[in-house]
Amino acid sequence: MKSQFKDKFLWGGAVAANQLEGAWLEDGKGPNVSDVVVGIHKDGRYPALKWNATTNKWEISLDKNKVYLTHDGIDFYHRYKEDLGYMAEMGFNAFRTSISWSRIFPTGLEDIPNEAGLKFYDDLFDEMIRLGMEPVITLSHYETPLQLLIETGGWTDKGTIERWMKYVNVVFNRYKTKVKYWMTFNEINNIYRMPFAAGGILDINPIDKNEPVANLSQKSINQAIHYIFIANALTVKLCREINPDAKIGCMLSFSSCATYPNTTNPIDVMGTLQYRHQNLFFSDVMSNGEYPGYMLRQWRENDSMPEMVQEELDIIKAYTVDHIALSYYRSAVYSADASMTHDTGGAAGVKNPYLKSSPLPWAWPIDPVGLRYVLNELTDRYHKPLFIVENGIGLDEVQGPDMIDDQDRIQYIQDHLVQVNEAIADGCDVIGYLYWGPIDVVSAGTGEMRKRYGFVYVDRFNDGMGTLERRTKKSFEYYKNIIKSNGEHLFKSQ
Ligand code: BG6
Repeated sequence: MKSQFKDKFLWGGAVAANQLEGAWLEDGKGPNVSDVVVGIHKDGRYPALKWNATTNKWEISLDKNKVYLTHDGIDFYHRYKEDLGYMAEMGFNAFRTSISWSRIFPTGLEDIPNEAGLKFYDDLFDEMIRLGMEPVITLSHYETPLQLLIETGGWTDKGTIERWMKYVNVVFNRYKTKVKYWMTFNEINNIYRMPFAAGGILDINPIDKNEPVANLSQKSINQAIHYIFIANALTVKLCREINPDAKIGCMLSFSSCATYPNTTNPIDVMGTLQYRHQNLFFSDVMSNGEYPGYMLRQWRENDSMPEMVQEELDIIKAYTVDHIALSYYRSAVYSADASMTHDTGGAAGVKNPYLKSSPLPWAWPIDPVGLRYVLNELTDRYHKPLFIVENGIGLDEVQGPDMIDDQDRIQYIQDHLVQVNEAIADGCDVIGYLYWGPIDVVSAGTGEMRKRYGFVYVDRFNDGMGTLERRTKKSFEYYKNIIKSNGEHLFKSQ
């Protein structure tokens, strides 16, 4: 098989503002949801929010014995020129990052945007363009302004649609000559599992003040989802009005789309289908413009149907996305007898005996064929272009005197891209591949630096120490050769 990647294929990498920018309160930025959820301490994640009984409000309360790695990230805010330089050296023609909403509207409630925040992204996008990279921009990647949640509850409040539209209106107008590729809400299908960070919903229980507790009813989460669907459709509409040449997609975590039945027992097969529906439902609405019958039935029977009126349904129907952007890390196996667990990589069910896993401690199954399966499945379902905006492997690496030899990463990329190539040959219209975490960033799932995805190593550790010096790994050269050859290098022996 020869390379099937078309000439203008978008090659590059993807990151998110909250995982690498740092400067969490600089130049007027307000705190966002990720700023308070992730912190490393010996017991794991720690929400830096405390209930103030005098004001009757949630307040940020940082524990000085804990390290909040996202607050400084990898200092991309000040070092982005150096970092983009590495990306340019690999030949990237596209780079995905997010705009941190609370840099633009620090509380999410203002009328006037923060000029310093807008200026930062102006400079960042200019630099990408200067280096030959198409900015691919996520409007919301676990970055809802914290104050918006505290004051209004976030997306459970209908008024959030208006506040969101104010934000997107400002950024669409400001960057209309710079940004052509947009996506709305990162992995919004994680909302049930992570209502606070992924959903932008205040789900903290003021009675039990220690940990975020999902104390919201199913109906109120569904209501928030309905508002997000309206916001998604209005965003697509506005994007087209402001720049008819722009392309806008939804973004979903589609590892779970590759969920296989554990046995041929029809109970497992039907259960797998229903499990997959829980994720595909989001793109069914945002791409097809209609609520699918399977979800309406579930909501009716659970008594969790959100309020919706015909005018809103008409908006959702009229403005569907141009393409489907997706993350894919691994597949899962469903069994009616076992429960499914989840993390940022997607679902995890029964162990698949046919697959190897990434090294400990994360040990995510590695299933390149699953990516081809997902791309075919989405093509059959939506008949739209597909944009792979996350795929990668997290490894525990420590820089010594020699260059890091990350053979596992090289193999992972080769195997997955060979399957992307197969999917293109199958007829899938794949417009780009953006590797997740081309430079080491703070992990979304564990809040660690130790979980490294990069082709570029960053000298920073879980305890917050490190020089922040950057060093390339062996995979840097490998990915560079793939891009340079537009995929031909995949078929050369390493
Ligand atoms: C995706 C997220 O779910 O997975 C990213 O969009 C995240 O933000 C990535 O970093 C990998 O997950 P993790 O937990 O290994 O950082």
